[in-house]
Amino acid sequence: MRKKLIAANWKMYKTPDQTRDFFREFLPLVAGHTRDEIVVCPPFLDLPAALEAAKGSDVGIGAQNVHWKEEGAFTGETSTLQLLALGITHVIVGHSERRQYFGETDDTVNLRLKMALEAGFTPICCIGEVLEEREAGATDDVLRRQCTRAFHAISAKKAAKLVIAYEPVWAIGTGKTATPAIAAEAHAVIRNEVTRIFGEDFAAKLRILYGGSVKPDNAAALMAEEEIDGALVGGASLDPKSFAAIVKY
Ligand code: 13P
Repeated sequence: MRKKLIAANWKMYKTPDQTRDFFREFLPLVAGHTRDEIVVCPPFLDLPAALEAAKGSDVGIGAQNVHWKEEGAFTGETSTLQLLALGITHVIVGHSERRQYFGETDDTVNLRLKMALEAGFTPICCIGEVLEEREAGATDDVLRRQCTRAFHAISAKKAAKLVIAYEPVWAIGTGKTATPAIAAEAHAVIRNEVTRIFGEDFAAKLRILYGGSVKPDNAAALMAEEEIDGALVGGASLDPKSFAAIVKY
């Protein structure tokens, strides 16, 4: 049995004060909830406030990106050393918004992922096809390519903590959720490719999250799929009641 992971990706929303307000309301709503692992990934500037607010709870705090060098002349980037010093445990790598707007490629995803694993984080590596790729029938090829390149030169042993998030780009922020069947089908393709790369035991333990317009009213149907091991939630994670409802689907 894979324990599901329900993760919030706040993207570029909330100030430190708003972060504290969120946790004040959210933590009592999920107190004692141990069925699923819960992680919140706020913007970098909100990380100290989030860590402080979540202290003593079972809610983990993650970052939304990480650089592939420990330090250096890389303006605007954040390193594993800095995140470790704060007490961060999870990190999102390769989100489609990074790929779409900030020049992230399969190769830079690979570099970031290697570093995150090396430093002991639980990386949530995002992959997913854009609408044109799905319409052209290229989804499976795209997912296989993204896996192959992202996991290039990483051993199964090193990758032990890896989590994958399948986020079809056409479903992100659009209100168009993939149906549970479409998501499960993509997850199966990913798990097959991971079996090829890291072996059967690894793939059987790997958690593959679904992301893209997950809301309180569709979470239960998605989570009922055996292939779906959790969710990466954007918009609906910004409100404590709505995120708690998803966690408790
Ligand atoms: P939405 O839930 O807002 O569609 O965002 C999904 C996402 O990109 C999570 O990383």
